[in-house]
Amino acid sequence: MAAPTSSQEAHPSLLIPGPIEITDEVANSMSKFAQSHVGPPFVNTFGETLTMLRDLFQTKNPASQPFVIAGSGTLGWDLVAANLVEPGEDVLVLHTGYFADSFAECFKTYGANPTQIKAPVGGRPQLPEIEEALKSKKYKAVTVTHVDTSTGVLSKIAALSELVQRVSPDTLLIVDGVCSVGGEELHFDDMKVDAALTASQKAIGCPPGLSILMVSERAMNVFKNRKSPPGSYYASFKNWTPIMQNYEAKKPSYFATPPTQLVTALNTSLKQLLKTPLSQRFEKHKEVSDRVKKTVAELGLKQLASNPDDQAHTMTAIYLPEGLTPPEILPKLMDRGVIFAGGLHKEIATKYIRFGHMGVTVTDDENRGEVEKALKALKEGLAEVQKAKGQ
Ligand SMILES: Cc1ncc(COP(=O)(O)O)c(C=O)c1O
Repeated sequence: MAAPTSSQEAHPSLLIPGPIEITDEVANSMSKFAQSHVGPPFVNTFGETLTMLRDLFQTKNPASQPFVIAGSGTLGWDLVAANLVEPGEDVLVLHTGYFADSFAECFKTYGANPTQIKAPVGGRPQLPEIEEALKSKKYKAVTVTHVDTSTGVLSKIAALSELVQRVSPDTLLIVDGVCSVGGEELHFDDMKVDAALTASQKAIGCPPGLSILMVSERAMNVFKNRKSPPGSYYASFKNWTPIMQNYEAKKPSYFATPPTQLVTALNTSLKQLLKTPLSQRFEKHKEVSDRVKKTVAELGLKQLASNPDDQAHTMTAIYLPEGLTPPEILPKLMDRGVIFAGGLHKEIATKYIRFGHMGVTVTDDENRGEVEKALKALKEGLAEVQKAKGQ
């Protein structure tokens, strides 16, 4: 049940690829007394939170613009599509699973023309084909899912960025980091990212409900020079940029009411997260991920991402043995105090399960022991189902 160090009500360990387990301090922040969203204490908390995001994304450029807006990760797609791309413009969407299809749909909603480069399930588009596409026409933006939560595939941002700089330097590089930020190496400035979107509920270790976005100076200028107004009211940079800038300058400001408790919880999780160097945090996620993947292989199971170079460190997508389905195995894990997720990729959803290993489950692994518990539960659960089926 709950981690031995936790004062939270006993509960099975939430080891899906988000939302994830939260610390007691984050949980307690959610029950903070009501605060005015324009009163000095909250303005201070929000301002501090925005500034901490600069450290999380590793940007030192004061003109990079953080946004924290009530909504889920999906709102990040709307923010990008409504503000950085104009109707009729072309966008190249690199597909490593379910989430690229959704991002492409979002672009269409705002009148842009997405073109997807799709890799076989468990793989990722390769640089030569991306280069060819980028040379074939002028793309306003290229999007990449850093970790695709439906497949556990990791994309290489630095190499992609180098390619974009070389062959199509005006193209904006957009990273969907919903399942990566806080768990995978992402260096906003060094990797020349123009927009990185994420959400509160994954490797950042906060409850769901916040869309978090970092936008580069260059992309903010692209926004300022738009010919058409942003295609959304709630998701408009025009409405939110002054609010974010005022909060960060510790000045009250209002466009739409921020979720005060959630922002307070994000403030707590970022303070906890930034206590240790990010490099150490990423290393720890790698170490735990390697352990999970080693055990999965020892159990004779395969991953969707067959090439180790393409495997995420925040989660593992695991094929079930032939003939077994998620509804058969997931309850056996639950019996053992562990919650995994079923498959999500449309073509193979019934054939695999997903194990999210990020945030406090990883950083406090020694005390919480959830990774070991999950691997043991997987082993025993599979054996139980296979025995019952006479396999
Ligand atoms: C990579 C990725 N992008 C976007 C989203 C959408 O985020 P949300 O479900 O918070 O709207 C998710 C959700 O899991 C995701 O994993």
